[in-house]
Amino acid sequence: MTEGMTDRAATDMRNRPIGVFDSGIGGLTVLREIWKELPNESTVYFGDSGRYPYGTKSHDTIVQYSLQNMRFLLSRNVKMIVIACNSAGAHAHTEVRRSAGVPVVEVITPGAEQAVRETRNGRIGIIATRATVNSGLYREAVLGAADRLIASGDNAEAISNLTVEQVACPLFVSLVEEGYWDNRATRLIAEDYLDGLRAAGIDVLVLGCTHYPILGRVIGEVMGPSVRLIDSGASVAGKVRSALRDTDLLRTEPSAPTYRFFTSDDPDMFEQRALPFLGGGRPAGTRYVATDSFTGPESGVKGERK
Ligand code: DGL
Repeated sequence: MTEGMTDRAATDMRNRPIGVFDSGIGGLTVLREIWKELPNESTVYFGDSGRYPYGTKSHDTIVQYSLQNMRFLLSRNVKMIVIACNSAGAHAHTEVRRSAGVPVVEVITPGAEQAVRETRNGRIGIIATRATVNSGLYREAVLGAADRLIASGDNAEAISNLTVEQVACPLFVSLVEEGYWDNRATRLIAEDYLDGLRAAGIDVLVLGCTHYPILGRVIGEVMGPSVRLIDSGASVAGKVRSALRDTDLLRTEPSAPTYRFFTSDDPDMFEQRALPFLGGGRPAGTRYVATDSFTGPESGVKGERK
């Protein structure tokens, strides 16, 4: 919270929503964990379905889109930004953090920290989009988390000799979008993608893409019971809580929180597809916003329509 703020301004600030963005609907797996962890917080979710997928795009494009999404959320008066997309986090978290002017939480560090805490044999697997794997940020985040853990003496024996294996699984995103969550084709593709990770003897596998938790059952069965799957949604929600607490931004109002949704594509399609991501709950009143309405610094909400 900014020093010198009046009590009224501080309360207004705390009462603002948390802004969450993703390339589309995958970030809803993170949003649902935020709702669980922080039931008194209001949220604004922006799913950039019109420009999805990000996982196949270049660094520069992902940075540009992420900054634009940030700008849109800031125009909705958010008090924090959650980058609920691994591909955006991997490429743009530094730029978003630099320009946001509010706290920023991304999804990669929490998943990496959880993997390092949970491994028993020091062999960690990561599956993600091509953009995320190519950024190298997961490997960096795992090694950084391991250094911090070793320094604190926690799980030091297991992680003193760490190996990190990464595999890009681009088809998983399309399979989820098409509703192929648990069938023969998905299983065959999973076996093919995950073969090398099984051979490497990993004991934890980070689901480094917001869509992958939906395929958790198939991935778990292919990897076998000795491999723990890490869905970082809950760890991210924990980070959101601690970041709000540390900046004195936890909402204190007793009134019910509000949940708003925006998409850069068809709102009905967004709501239909959102169902599995929100564990069956359907977001209501999703509004369309044109991305070209927030590409300029002052724009923001001009392209909104019901
Ligand atoms: N949300 C993206 C991620 O977590 C997956 C979908 C995409 O490629 O945009 O990387």
